[in-house]
Amino acid sequence: MGRWICPMFDATFYKDQLFPRISKLPTLQPRLIVMGHMFIRLKPGWLEQKSERTMLFNRCQHLKQITQRCFFRAQGKPHQRGHLMLSRTFALAELRKSWRSIYSLVGDKNIILMGPPGAGKTTVGRIIGQKLGCCVIDVDDDILEKTWNMSVSEKLQDVGNEQFLEEEGKAVLNFSASGSVISLTGSNPMHEASMWHLKKNGIVVYLDVPLIDIIERLQSMKLNRIVGQNFGTPMKDLLTSRRQYYKKWFDMRVFCERGASPEEVADKVLKAVQRYQAVDSETFISTRYNWPKDYKQKNSTKCFSEAVTEGLASDGGLFVPEKEFPKLSSAEWKGLLGATYVERAQILLEKCIHPADVPAARLGEMIEAAYGKNFACSKVAPVRHLSGNQFILELFHGPTGSFKDLSLQLMPHLFAHCIPPNCNYMVLVATSGDTGSAVLNGFSHLSNGDKKKIAVTTFFPENGVSDFQKAQIVGSQRENGWAVGVKSDFDFCQRAVKNMFKDCDFTGFLVVEYGTILSSANSINWGRLLPQVIYHASAYLDLVSQGFISFGSPVDVCIPTGNFGNVLAAVYAKMMGIPIRKFICASNQNHVLTDFIKTGHYDLREKKIAQTFSPAIDILKSSNLERHLHMMANKDGQLMTKLFNQLDTQNHFQIEKLLVEKLQQDFVADWCSEEDCLAAIHSTYNALGYILDPHTAVAKVVADRMQDKTCPVIVSSTAHYSKFAPAIMQALKIKELNQTSSSQLYLLSSYNALPPPHGALLETTKQKQHEKMEYQVCTADLNVLKGQVEKLIQSQFL
Ligand SMILES: *Cc1c(COP(=O)(O)O)cnc(C)c1O
Ligand SMILES: *[C@@H]1O[C@H](CO)[C@@H](O)[C@H](O)[C@H]1NC(C)=O
Ligand SMILES: *[C@@H]1O[C@H](CO)[C@@H](O)[C@H](O)[C@H]1NC(C)=O
Ligand SMILES: *[C@@H]1O[C@H](CO)[C@@H](O)[C@H](O)[C@H]1NC(C)=O
Ligand SMILES: *[C@@H]1O[C@H](CO)[C@@H](O)[C@H](O)[C@H]1NC(C)=O
Repeated sequence: MGRWICPMFDATFYKDQLFPRISKLPTLQPRLIVMGHMFIRLKPGWLEQKSERTMLFNRCQHLKQITQRCFFRAQGKPHQRGHLMLSRTFALAELRKSWRSIYSLVGDKNIILMGPPGAGKTTVGRIIGQKLGCCVIDVDDDILEKTWNMSVSEKLQDVGNEQFLEEEGKAVLNFSASGSVISLTGSNPMHEASMWHLKKNGIVVYLDVPLIDIIERLQSMKLNRIVGQNFGTPMKDLLTSRRQYYKKWFDMRVFCERGASPEEVADKVLKAVQRYQAVDSETFISTRYNWPKDYKQKNSTKCFSEAVTEGLASDGGLFVPEKEFPKLSSAEWKGLLGATYVERAQILLEKCIHPADVPAARLGEMIEAAYGKNFACSKVAPVRHLSGNQFILELFHGPTGSFKDLSLQLMPHLFAHCIPPNCNYMVLVATSGDTGSAVLNGFSHLSNGDKKKIAVTTFFPENGVSDFQKAQIVGSQRENGWAVGVKSDFDFCQRAVKNMFKDCDFTGFLVVEYGTILSSANSINWGRLLPQVIYHASAYLDLVSQGFISFGSPVDVCIPTGNFGNVLAAVYAKMMGIPIRKFICASNQNHVLTDFIKTGHYDLREKKIAQTFSPAIDILKSSNLERHLHMMANKDGQLMTKLFNQLDTQNHFQIEKLLVEKLQQDFVADWCSEEDCLAAIHSTYNALGYILDPHTAVAKVVADRMQDKTCPVIVSSTAHYSKFAPAIMQALKIKELNQTSSSQLYLLSSYNALPPPHGALLETTKQKQHEKMEYQVCTADLNVLKGQVEKLIQSQFL
């Protein structure tokens, strides 16, 4: 089942030799292309006539200009009739086209206002109606009271809650409108069938008004017409439980500020509807993108879905949003002070991901799945006061104990939503530590349906990771995830993965033979970077809500950094409105990045990686830095191309003085020696009973040195200390170094230290007996690794 065969073509057929039945294709847009390749699935019976092939050949010359290669898949027995099917990217383009025509603002669709009683639906609806010059329908007055010939509160008293909901739903089902503004009742969303009926013909806009505003307004209104109220439930609980219905139906949320006027809300509704319709407005470009002089020539922009599935741009650059990051007003931020991590994530990510890519309601579900039970701490990423003006942002409460979980618990859901429906994906990762287990764990939480289409293989250096790390990577294997040990170092693993991606014959073969596309989930993927913005914002809000600072006053952040992802997410949080003053970058002995920030010279010549106690930042090529430089250089893609080509060929580059100064306005950097790192772990534990992991210790040392103490500093704690037990034991001068990693963990956990032992990590060391602990080991040979990938694809997808 599901195996694609190709009876008509020989092995070279994916090398530009065959062409699609172009006559059936509408005008081709570059967005049809996944990773520079166009995937077209052919059914048998196609292209059998020579004349047909010649015709197609002639018609798709222009195709060759925009694709590197075309791939074809044929299905079933020869001579069966079939039709051309295109992959999701095509489907998406079509969808977007129809989307635009469906929802023209004053076309025949409705704007449907939804929200709790007292949200202002009726008043706001009238204002919008006036602005658009269209009909306004109030479900209470115009439908229910007319149908029933009595007031809504009379009806509610007459028939009781359940019957009321039923009759209300029926009345709505009986009604249809177009080109109107419709104000729902607060209880409409509790009736499934009538909501489907309404949603078919309009955009549902959720007026998300602060609870406190609602309660105040309801106190000044007559209260006798709220469904469910007479059960004696307090109003606050009633309103909270209503939210589950609202969040199920909305297409766009309007996040209302405290005390916002109906006019302000109406403006926001119109903006939301416009954004909803502007399906192509939130595009991504490559950092190497060369802006055309003539705007009409603008091409090669991508949507969010493509940025997430493709990872890296075809010109070698990284995807960045073409426009500014969305900015929240301070009143909006204040509205998030009392919100949970999940709620904050929902509101912030809705602003950053267009609903054409991920519908807001679906996004909300993904966020709940990602940051719910998977995290050991209900606050997900809590901030803890350490001492003086230093705070620790604990990013290690996820299932694998490093901050990678914060992005990798969510990213697989985004990825699964964005990929073409007819393709399988094999995600390849090279890991030297935290990434491997976080990726395997993250992708193991996909739905069963998605797990059938998406699998993960992580390559790790068989003798280059600690016992504990190996146990964690291998122990994170699930039905769609494999760990493969390679008898070489991390560099080889990484190069091998890169080479597999670059090898079109290999990737083409996998597509054609197995319908499987290779992808990567590495740290440059936009889908991994974006979720990290949330915890920086959330940490600031927590400091405000815990009374340490007042809203609007600045903070510094200090971050142990390697690939620059975590820091860059903080920069994005600032762009969204969080007042971060200085970004303090902390390196260990491998301090290429620190030197760059101090001098503007990125110099890899004669640099060798040194092994340190903080291995996750033993990195020389800081890949996300390109995104930041691009932003600072006013999106000069030509400059980025020049600099990073130079880095490849000459191993160094220098940026001009002006740019260095600009960088140094916000950035400070320093590095920490191995001794200082261990000493910081020791002294912090002695003074405060708190154990820092070695990466956090690097950041603490640098924060102590570089921070001018005029404002609080939030230190990112990127891992739980028990992942690095040997270093901690050395720092704390615990002698028994030759214990097994599990007894080390138990020993540390007996120290009664803060933060408490990490349950999931302790589990990891115990699960040996009954979990999938076998794994493959390969020799350091690219062809062997390729063979392994093919074997895993066969066992997963055939
Ligand atoms: C990955 C990792 C880092 C480096 O993060 P970047 O976003 O690449 O700067 C730091 N600490 C730990 C524990 C990590 O796993
Ligand atoms: C509506 O009710 C009023 C009295 O409550 C009655 O006089 C009137 O005839 C009713 N109208 C219809 C159409 O039933
Ligand atoms: C729905 O409309 C039909 C026909 O117009 C009518 O017979 C029926 O009573 C209506 N139902 C409700 C609940 O109003
Ligand atoms: C995109 O635009 C650039 C410059 O305008 C041009 O050189 C290039 O050929 C275009 N690419 C495609 C695929 O149209
Ligand atoms: C540590 O290992 C050495 C030799 O490998 C052994 O002699 C010693 O007893 C071990 N110590 C502990 C505490 O297990």
